[in-house]
Amino acid sequence: MNSITTEKSPHRRLRAGRIEDIPPGSKKFLPDYYENILVVNVDGEFFAVSNTCPHAGGWMAYGPLEGYILECPMHFWPFDVRNGCLSGMEDSGLFERLNTYPVTVEAGEVFVELPAGA
Ligand code: FES
Repeated sequence: MNSITTEKSPHRRLRAGRIEDIPPGSKKFLPDYYENILVVNVDGEFFAVSNTCPHAGGWMAYGPLEGYILECPMHFWPFDVRNGCLSGMEDSGLFERLNTYPVTVEAGEVFVELPAGA
């Protein structure tokens, strides 16, 4: 497992890999017992979201990523990776969101910061 806990940070972090391992436009799946995570690179910005669609459990890793929009492969709901919100469905009455997680980059390594207790 690629997780790290330090005394300075009681939360756990997942190592996603080096920056060059996740080039712009790509996704990287990070299995974890807390939640399976998907790290995406949008034009050099990294975001981390749940790999599980809140609608019916579609695997977001199999959905297309276009700009900030990650589409679920099962029923094509589009989620904004910046905040996990549905995009372009404001009139639908749906409020499901993908979980999102902070991402940090240190010394060329990409980390996903999980909440305390995760
Ligand atoms: S499972 Fe993702 S939109 Fe239905």
